Amino acid sequence: MSGPRPCPVSVPDLLKMKQRGEKTAMLTAYDYPTAKMLDGAGVDVLLVGDSLGMVVLGYESTLPVTMAEMLHHVKAVVRGASRALVVADMPYLSYHVSRREAVQNAGRFIQEAGAKAVKVEGGRKRTRVIRALREAEIPVMGHVGLTPQSVHDLGGFKLQGRSAAAARGILEDALALEDSGVFSMVLEGIPAELAGLITERISIPTFGIGAGPACDGQVLVLHDLLGLTEGHVPSFVRRYADLHASISGACRQFVGDVREGRFPGEVESHHLKPEVLDDLRRGLDPAANSPWRT
Ligand code: KIV
Repeated sequence: MSGPRPCPVSVPDLLKMKQRGEKTAMLTAYDYPTAKMLDGAGVDVLLVGDSLGMVVLGYESTLPVTMAEMLHHVKAVVRGASRALVVADMPYLSYHVSRREAVQNAGRFIQEAGAKAVKVEGGRKRTRVIRALREAEIPVMGHVGLTPQSVHDLGGFKLQGRSAAAARGILEDALALEDSGVFSMVLEGIPAELAGLITERISIPTFGIGAGPACDGQVLVLHDLLGLTEGHVPSFVRRYADLHASISGACRQFVGDVREGRFPGEVESHHLKPEVLDDLRRGLDPAANSPWRT
């Protein structure tokens, strides 16, 4: 018997958690079964990140990800989440062209896909678009520091805010976002001291990724945490599993079993009753040949 349905996490709940000094856990999710597992494991926020493009769709960056791709995955995650707050990442160009288009696109995540909030990247230059989304009653999560949609501007996925001037710029971005009405923000790829200072200065929760332990919550890309990503893994990632090795090993065993005739075995097979088999054999035309037989 399953227990009572857990109370869904809301936007105001996250603010209360910060006020109570409770740490919040966010992970990325891209499909129904993993959303269900993460939800059941107590993850508070499921972010359908545009990292989808890199870890699921095989793109080099997040820039090619489209609204259609995001909508498809947000819908699946929403179906799998009963407690966690689902946040949809707005893909590149979905909120850059005009405020009207931004509201329409963000509205699709809420109305069609069932997300509870959207996330946009960028600091002071995003305040007008964030205000427009807030006017349309759409809760917005901000994202400052290393913003992957600005990868070409930043010259790569590099730690941001190392000099006093750059750190001051990121602090100003965070303050401007809070002022424009975001309910929380991601601090990505910045020194721990700067993340601590921002977290202290603002009244909304911060979620760090590569931003040290002082943030109100932490977020990781699921595939990094599970050890599903191949090649270089950023130093801020803690791998809690090595699913790449487990999955590759399992599939290698399957291939070997099929090739050597060990799969399927007796327990994985169904059989006809002997009299049914006899009946079947009697009705067969012995001269009939498969057109594929050589
Ligand atoms: O797209 C994403 O997964 C993100 C997280 C890294 C915060 O923006």
